[in-house]
Amino acid sequence: MYEKLEEINEVVRNCTKCNLCKNRTNTVLGSGNENAKVMFIGEGPGADEDKIGEPFVGKAGKLMNQAFLGIGISREEVYISNIVKCRPPNNRTPLKEEAEACLDYLRNQVMIIKPKIIVLLGNTALKNILGEEYGITASRGKWIEKKGIKYLPTFHPAALLRDESKKIDFWNDLKLVKKELENY
Ligand code: URA
Ligand code: SF4
Repeated sequence: MYEKLEEINEVVRNCTKCNLCKNRTNTVLGSGNENAKVMFIGEGPGADEDKIGEPFVGKAGKLMNQAFLGIGISREEVYISNIVKCRPPNNRTPLKEEAEACLDYLRNQVMIIKPKIIVLLGNTALKNILGEEYGITASRGKWIEKKGIKYLPTFHPAALLRDESKKIDFWNDLKLVKKELENY
């Protein structure tokens, strides 16, 4: 385990622990506030993220920014990362072995940032962090507390691009986060 995010970043940039290293342009460790009270966890970099090396800078990220703006959460006060740090080919879901190979980095990030709240964006984040028995439809919008961290599963912003009707739930879930943040 490392003590600084920059140290993890250096290791990740040279990581070959899974096959996703083969097609990446840039690794995407995460971005935001190292002292954030809330962390958002997505699935993995898409084409735009792979090109730039930052999480959620494409269409899904823009949608998330809009929701943040509307609710009064700033991207500078949160930390955003993903289950895998290298782009899966054609944006497919990361395989179990890829997620497992990469998860130690995320655990190390959580150890350093020490968030009070972790928002799990979509099934990949939910299942890899809390367990395969969970599903986003049943779990979204419900707090799950484990080892002193409050987890809130919600839809992945890319799901809102496919199905507009999910937007209202996503917004309501972010409002729960905003409200919970007032306690810290
Ligand atoms: N989708 C994700 O899951 N993560 C990103 O960083 C961008 C899109
Ligand atoms: Fe390493 Fe994670 Fe990239 Fe796989 S996805 S090569 S484990 S950094």
